[in-house]
Amino acid sequence: MAAGFALGRLNHVAIAVPDIEAARAVYATMLGATVSGIEDQPDHGVQTVFIELPNTKVELLGVLGDASPIAGFLAKNPAGGIHHICYEVADILAARNKLLAEGARVLGDGTPKIGAHGKPVLFLHPKDFCGTLVELEQA
Ligand code: CO
Repeated sequence: MAAGFALGRLNHVAIAVPDIEAARAVYATMLGATVSGIEDQPDHGVQTVFIELPNTKVELLGVLGDASPIAGFLAKNPAGGIHHICYEVADILAARNKLLAEGARVLGDGTPKIGAHGKPVLFLHPKDFCGTLVELEQA
């Protein structure tokens, strides 16, 4: 085993949705949640709504633009669905290096990108993590 890192708190669960205004209304009105406005994230090809819960967050992701990374997911899941979960880590490079040493696949070129919260993030291949796309965020 390479030098360890500890998986931290659940930062958010992201749900891809075909209609972000309708999804926002479900959370705001039916579920009584505290929701943000709809924000464009042009660097990420998505629109986001952030839902603040007492212990974590949920993010609604809608398509933005022609090359949205969630378009394929929505084609397979037309009603929407859980797209990824995000865990916090203290040192994202230490986490990446350990996971690569263990043979896990880090998406992209392995360089952390600045995520929707302004912090470094990486995505890990679902086939290596129980069929779930995992985002790591340095927090
Ligand atoms: Co995320």
